[in-house]
Amino acid sequence: MTDQAPAPFTGKSRVLSGVQPSGDLHLGNYLGALVKFARLQNEMETFIFVADLHAITAWQDPAKLKNQVREIAAAYLATGLDPRVATIFAQSAVPAHAELAWVFNCVARLGWLDRMTQFKDKAGKHKERESVGLYTYPVLQAADILIYKATHVPVGEDQRQHLELTRDIAAKFNHDFDTPGFFPLPEALTQGPGARIMSLRDGSVKMSKSDPSDNSRINLTDDADTMSQKIRKARTDAEVLPEKLEDLAGRPEAQNLIGIYAALAGRQAQDVLTEFAGHGFGVFKPKLADLVVSVMGPIGGDMRRMLADPAEIDRILSAGAERAREVAAPNLAEVKRIVGYWAS
Ligand code: TYM
Repeated sequence: MTDQAPAPFTGKSRVLSGVQPSGDLHLGNYLGALVKFARLQNEMETFIFVADLHAITAWQDPAKLKNQVREIAAAYLATGLDPRVATIFAQSAVPAHAELAWVFNCVARLGWLDRMTQFKDKAGKHKERESVGLYTYPVLQAADILIYKATHVPVGEDQRQHLELTRDIAAKFNHDFDTPGFFPLPEALTQGPGARIMSLRDGSVKMSKSDPSDNSRINLTDDADTMSQKIRKARTDAEVLPEKLEDLAGRPEAQNLIGIYAALAGRQAQDVLTEFAGHGFGVFKPKLADLVVSVMGPIGGDMRRMLADPAEIDRILSAGAERAREVAAPNLAEVKRIVGYWAS
């Protein structure tokens, strides 16, 4: 962070994204989302929030939730978000999200939500036991984005379907209320090699906060030894690395590790393969472990330092919330007027 505050952005494009405070952040969150936030703040006006409303769709210990929010905020700051440039806040500090979500609950169709694969994955066989909130969660996500009329949403591949739903809701609102162009149709930014990082224990499932095995992921707060050990223990196969990317087909674990290396080094996967072709994982894994530790290690250290001063994090979140409320208020007022509420 430099001392001089950069000039604010005034263009029409606006970035919005968020992360749930529902577990330890991992390498997938970092490469799929956080790393892009810091980059985009230099290109467009940027709003990044902590999704504590989303988090309670599954049980969260009330005594811990506030601190979980601070941890995500610390991760944002440690990965390079600058509160003088980007607006950083907690979702629960801006009630307009929930107010717009109600209107969108009345715009979205049940059939649209029935198609959401993330709900099916999370609910499994016992959907009747899940909270109603978990089911309508993508509608709240649409409200998060559209309350700011955001145009660009940096997320990992797993959020693509929610972004398609957001566009459908925006289009239906604009059509039903005859307000063409009122809501933009936001674009998901999922490009890049880090968009879908897989578990270190099984290359066919994504790296996830909720995986019961801690060895399946590298957490931002892991120490260097733990990170190296997890890479060393990562599941692989007995073959050597091939020369061509196509020849990794059918080897999801190898593909994932090469992808992680490429994403962290800012290189093409083919370029990484060319360097390691003919070598086995005994050669590749130590190099990958060094790279992971060199990139992720300092982030965990910065997070710990920031979390030692929770009052400063709260100050940043409060200032961000004030700015977010200012931007959301006229948009919500307009929605109430369009819908025809008595209180508008
Ligand atoms: P969440 O908290 O599950 O994940 C945060 C971000 O990390 C990305 N991600 C991954 N990327 C690559 N590989 C992985 N294995 C991986 N796992 C997670 C996610 O795609 C996400 O970008 N619904 C969102 C939070 C949210 C939101 C929003 C996002 C609420 N409202 C509005 C954008 C805009 C979620 O649960 O992310």
